[in-house]
Amino acid sequence: MANAPEKKEMTEVSEAQIAVHWREEEYFNPPQKFIAQANMPDSKILERFGLDKFPDCFKEYADMVSWFEPYHTVLDTSNAPFWKWFTGGKINASYNCVDRHLAKYRNKAAIIFVGEPENEDPVAITYQELYYRVNEVAAMLRDYVGLKAGDRVTFHLPMTPELPITMLACARLGVIHSEVFGGFSGQACGTRIQDSGSHVLVTIDSYWRAGTLVDHKANADIAVQTAEEMGQHVDKVLVWQRYPGKYGSKTPMVEGRDFFMNDLLKKYQGKKVDPVPMDSTAPLFLMYTSGTTGKPKGIQHSTGGYLAYVTGTAKYIQDIHPEDTYWCMADIGWITGHSYIVYGPLSLAATSVVYEGTPTYPDAGRPWRIAERLGVNILHTAPTSIRMLRKLGPDEPAKYNYHFKHMTTVGEPIEPDVWRWYYHTVGKDEAVIVDTWWQTENGGFLCTTTPAVHQMKPGSAGPGAPGIHPVILDEDGEEVPAGSGKAGNICIRNPWPGIMQTIWGDPDRYVRTYYARYNKNPKSTDWRDWPYMAGDGAVQAADKYYRILGRIDDVINVAGHRLGTKEIESACLTVPEVAEAAVVPVADELRGRVPEIYIALKPGIQASPEIVAKVVKANEDIIGKIARPKHVYIVPDMPKTRSGKIMRRVLASISNQRDVGDVTTLANPTVVEEIRVMVQGKDAVAQMGEVPEDIAKFGQNE
Ligand code: WTA
Repeated sequence: MANAPEKKEMTEVSEAQIAVHWREEEYFNPPQKFIAQANMPDSKILERFGLDKFPDCFKEYADMVSWFEPYHTVLDTSNAPFWKWFTGGKINASYNCVDRHLAKYRNKAAIIFVGEPENEDPVAITYQELYYRVNEVAAMLRDYVGLKAGDRVTFHLPMTPELPITMLACARLGVIHSEVFGGFSGQACGTRIQDSGSHVLVTIDSYWRAGTLVDHKANADIAVQTAEEMGQHVDKVLVWQRYPGKYGSKTPMVEGRDFFMNDLLKKYQGKKVDPVPMDSTAPLFLMYTSGTTGKPKGIQHSTGGYLAYVTGTAKYIQDIHPEDTYWCMADIGWITGHSYIVYGPLSLAATSVVYEGTPTYPDAGRPWRIAERLGVNILHTAPTSIRMLRKLGPDEPAKYNYHFKHMTTVGEPIEPDVWRWYYHTVGKDEAVIVDTWWQTENGGFLCTTTPAVHQMKPGSAGPGAPGIHPVILDEDGEEVPAGSGKAGNICIRNPWPGIMQTIWGDPDRYVRTYYARYNKNPKSTDWRDWPYMAGDGAVQAADKYYRILGRIDDVINVAGHRLGTKEIESACLTVPEVAEAAVVPVADELRGRVPEIYIALKPGIQASPEIVAKVVKANEDIIGKIARPKHVYIVPDMPKTRSGKIMRRVLASISNQRDVGDVTTLANPTVVEEIRVMVQGKDAVAQMGEVPEDIAKFGQNE
C-alpha cells in the first residue's frame, strides 16, 4: 500500500537515541548595533506569519523576487501532499540572481573566489561579468549540447566559480541541474546520473583540497561507466579546467565524448540567451540525499516557491543586505550551498564568497585571514568546522582584524560550549548567532531565532522560522507539551514555499517517508491533515525553543553530512569475505557522529587487517571518503534475535560505551560480551580493527 509508513523509519538505533541531553542555558541578547541595521527588527513579523495568516503570509517572500507573470494562487493543495506554490506565476531563477541586479550593482562583486593555495589572489566576479559568463555557458549548453527546459544535467563539481555559473546557466534555460558533491566517488555520481536520467555530465579536471591538486576527471570515467552499466548512456562529458588551457588530470579525454568547456565557449563569446520564463512549479534542481533504504533520494525543488523562500530567509534570518560580504563555508554540493551560497545571497545582490579548500589549510588561521582580507561581515558554517578550528587554533581569531555582524551554524546540534567559543572568540562578542535547523528536503531554514527579534540560547535551534509552525508528536500522534522534557518526532504543521516537490521518480516514497505516518486521511486536500515528519527527534523547552537530538531513522549525520547506514552496509557486503555487516552511529568529539562498522566473515575465513582495509576501500569507492568508518570490527558473530535479526541497538550501546541492557533473550547472548571486550577492552583483536591514523586528519568538509 503506497501510504503505509516506511516500516524502517522507526529504527531500533538512531542518532536521537544516542543523543546527550544538555541542560538549559542562559540567554544571550542580540547586540544593539546589529538590531539597528537589521532587515527585520520588528517582532510583529511573528504575528504577520502566524498560522491564522497561512498561506498568504508567504506573499511577502514572493514579493522579494521578480516575476515575468504574476501568480494567481498562493498555495494549491488539490493534489496534497504535493504542494504547488505561487501557481500561474512565471519566473526565472537566473534572471533573479543576475540580470535584475545589473541596473544598480553592475560592477559590484557577485562572487569572490578564493582558491586554496594562499599565493593565488582572490578573484572577484562582478554581476556584469557573471551575466556574461552565465549567458555564454547557457548559449553553449543550448546550441551546442542541445539542452532544453526540463532536461536533467548532472554536475560533479567542487568549489570553484564554474559551479554557480553552470547552475545559473541551466536555470536560465529551465534545465534541471543535479549537482553531486565533489567529494563523492565516481560510482556514487554514476548512480545519481542514472536515477536522474542525465545524458550530460559536467565536471572539472582537478581542484585543490588540503594541499593536493586532486585528479577529479578520473571520477567522471567511473561515473559514466557506472551509469552505462545501469542502463543510462552519457553522451557528453563537459570538462572545466582549474587552470584554463592546462589539463590537470592523468586520464585521457575520450574522443567524441569529452570536451573542454573553455574550448567550446570560444564560439559563444558575448552571446546572450533570454531567460526562459518558467512555471513557478517547474523543477529548478535535484539534490540527492540519503534515506532509510540504500538508494539515495533525488529531492526535487521548485523554481518559484524555492527561490522565494531562500530569498526571504536569507534576507530576514541571515540579514543579508546588498552591501554585505557573505561567506558560507559549506560546499555548494550540499543543500546549504545551493540555498545559501548561490540562490539566496545572489537573489539579494550580495557578494558571496566561494572558498575552494579545507578551512584548516594551511593552518587554522586561514578562515580569519580570508575574513580580514575580503571584509567578510556574515559567516555561515557548521559545528564540525567550529570544533575543528577551536581545537587547532583556539586563539587564532583574535589575531585578525575582521568584524562579523552575524554568524550562522547549521547541520548538526552545536554543543553549548562550542557555541560559546563561536560567540566570544570567533564573533568577538559582536555578532548575533542563528542556529538553523533544516534539511535538504526543506529548501531553507525551519527552526531558528529571527536574529534581531529573539534572544539566543546556546545549544538550541530556537522557535520556528517566520511562517513555520513546528510541533513534536509522539508515537501515537499526540502532541508532546512544551517544557515536558519529553522527546518526540519533530513535524511541521503547515507546508511552506521551500518544501520539496517530490522525490524524483518516486512519488510514493515521498508520501511514505514524510507524510504517511501522521496523516489520518490520505484523500484529504486540507494541508492541516498533512504534518511533515522531518525524521529528527527533538525536545521543546518551556520557552518553546526546539533542541534537535538527531535523526530517528537509519541515517547518520557525519560532520553535518547525511549517510544512510544501509548504503554503508551494502558497500561492506561487496567485499567477498564479508557475510554480514552492521553499521551504527557513534558519538565523536569533532565530527558529531561517525559510523562504526561491525562485520562477520564467511565460514572458514580468517580475520585480517587486509579485510578491514578492503571494507574501508569499498566504502570510499562506492560512496566517497566521507563514508570512512571510525572503526571496523570483525566479530565472531552478530548479536541476533531468535528470528535472526541483527541487534544493532546492542552494537550501538557497545560503541557508545553504554550499558547493553538485557541480552538474555538473544539467540547468542555470549557473543555480546566477546564483542564488548573487543571494542572496549584492550583485546588484541580490537587493535586490528583500528582504521589507519589519517582518518583523523580527514577534512571536516568532506
Ligand atoms: C541535522 C542540512 C541540529 C538534522 C541543512 C537534519 C541539525 C539533518 C541542524 C539534515 C541543527 C541540520 N541542529 N541538527 N541546526 N541542522 N541538522 O539534509 O538531523 O544535509 O535532519 O541538511 O541534519 O541534513 P541535510
